[in-house]
Amino acid sequence: MKSKLLFKKGEIKKQVKKLAEKLNKDYDSKNPILVCILKGAFVFLADLIRELRFPVRIDFISVSSYGDATRTSGIVKILKDISFDIEGEDVILIEDVLDTGLTLSYIYDFLSRKNPKSLKICVLLEKEINRTKKIKVDYRGFTIPNKYVIGYGLDFNEKFRNLPDISVMEF
Ligand code: IMP
Ligand code: MG
Repeated sequence: MKSKLLFKKGEIKKQVKKLAEKLNKDYDSKNPILVCILKGAFVFLADLIRELRFPVRIDFISVSSYGDATRTSGIVKILKDISFDIEGEDVILIEDVLDTGLTLSYIYDFLSRKNPKSLKICVLLEKEINRTKKIKVDYRGFTIPNKYVIGYGLDFNEKFRNLPDISVMEF
């Protein structure tokens, strides 16, 4: 397996801090529920929440999307639903990487139907591609080229989530 360094851990830390500062402004007197999309976003969530100064509540959602190791098919199934009742709540979706957008748009619609007061999207990485599904990202860490990335929670065949830096896989 070969890979090429994209963001070192220090750089990620700085960017996560910047994102947190924006959230701290926007959610100053609020008490939102952060919904982490498993598994990839758990490292990002863990670092992000430790920079937040408002009271946070955490929840998790797990989906499976069929496809091969590097591509989503668009058929999404909920494996684990959130446990909070989010009706009337401010909700922030936390995702590792926005690729085709199929997963995120499915989850967005799924959670919208539970009638939250607000529903925002926070992604660490957004790939620069032409999306058929348009998604409004409210908080973004980095824009990256359309390459497959690993580390900082992101996997290839369930491996490499533990790597502290983010790298591009070279196939
Ligand atoms: P989408 O539905 O195509 O936007 O894919 C989003 C999901 O696929 C993310 O939640 C990731 O788990 C996974 N994914 C997409 N691109 C990558 C990548 O470059 N590295 C690791 N996982 C990825
Ligand atoms: Mg994911």
